[in-house]
Amino acid sequence: SLIPVILAGGKGERFWPVSRLQRPKQFLSLDGSGTSLLQATAERLLPLAGGWSSLWVITASHLATGIAEQLPQLPQTNLLVEPEGRDTAPAVAWTTLEIIKRYGEEAIVAFFPADHWIDDSDKFCQTLLAAAELASEQGAIATLGITPTYAATGYGYIEQGAEVGRYGNLPAYRVSRFTEKPDVATATEFLESGRFSWNSGMFIFPAGVMLQELKAYAPELIHPLLEKGVDAYHELTKLSIDYAVMERTQKAYVMPVSFGWDDLGDWNAIERLLKGDRDNVELAQHIGLDTHGSVVYSSNPEEVIVTIGLEDVVVVRDGNATLIVRKDRTQDIKKAVKRLGTEE
Ligand code: GDD
Ligand code: MG
Repeated sequence: SLIPVILAGGKGERFWPVSRLQRPKQFLSLDGSGTSLLQATAERLLPLAGGWSSLWVITASHLATGIAEQLPQLPQTNLLVEPEGRDTAPAVAWTTLEIIKRYGEEAIVAFFPADHWIDDSDKFCQTLLAAAELASEQGAIATLGITPTYAATGYGYIEQGAEVGRYGNLPAYRVSRFTEKPDVATATEFLESGRFSWNSGMFIFPAGVMLQELKAYAPELIHPLLEKGVDAYHELTKLSIDYAVMERTQKAYVMPVSFGWDDLGDWNAIERLLKGDRDNVELAQHIGLDTHGSVVYSSNPEEVIVTIGLEDVVVVRDGNATLIVRKDRTQDIKKAVKRLGTEE
């Protein structure tokens, strides 16, 4: 069986001011559905886990209460709380060790980001079961590849190698190269070659295989954790699993996926999802005169936002803060949040 783990310790700063320190992106319902990204992720994973008792979540301490509120059915013993976020490599390493303690090295573990949109839950589950089979038969770290549509620099790129067979009727390939967040020239080259897919950020593997790879490629991380458990956290450096293991392991495999997928990275992603044939994406009472191609959001349904003569902007109101940004500059929201420091 499969033990799904949700990585839920990230910030999602590009959604400031709706996302805040204690209320990160994964706690929000950005599409107005009322279900948060984290709740939607958990719901999608429950059939794979076979119930709450086998679903795990790892997060940072300042978010632990929020997670328990959002997922009241999650057993406390399945919520791992990091003293402080150290990016995903320590999170994957510590969780893998805890899972080995409870279920042994053969257990198939699957890590999921908490901030993705997926259009077809059934197809998603079928693909995951196939990836679990691939992982257990090949001793693989299985990844799910997304067909790239532009030279994105915020994703990992996976170069497809030789086919190793079919699992659940889906072809599986060796990964011949994994490159995390390439610069735009490299991303363009990858895209044009036609041999690459985007890394969806989901990883499926036998727990023992990840332990072995961490020992080989990230000893400075796994040895303190093996010795002291979570008490080792303060000595660990921030590093993502993509750099720590995926770029270096020889055990990576990829299955191309056919379900709809989007990384809800910033307001442009919300626009992609909700646009349809609308002129503006409006999640607020908005009166727009000569306003086109814009996203307008307010957390307060009582509030009215008026825009005149604007094009391709994002306007966001929340509590004591307002953001107005050109759509092509939303990457820079992070810089502004840094400037705000702890006042955010
Ligand atoms: N527990 C915990 N602790 N979770 C964390 C931490 C941490 O310190 N840091 C990040 N996370 C969670 C985030 O909340 C998110 O759900 C997930 O881990 C991935 O982290 P991101 O920071 O969103 O990664 P990314 O989007 O830059 O890159 C990853 O995902 C892309 C696809 O969305 C990489 O795997 C890329 O290769 C991939 O293309
Ligand atoms: Mg992300």
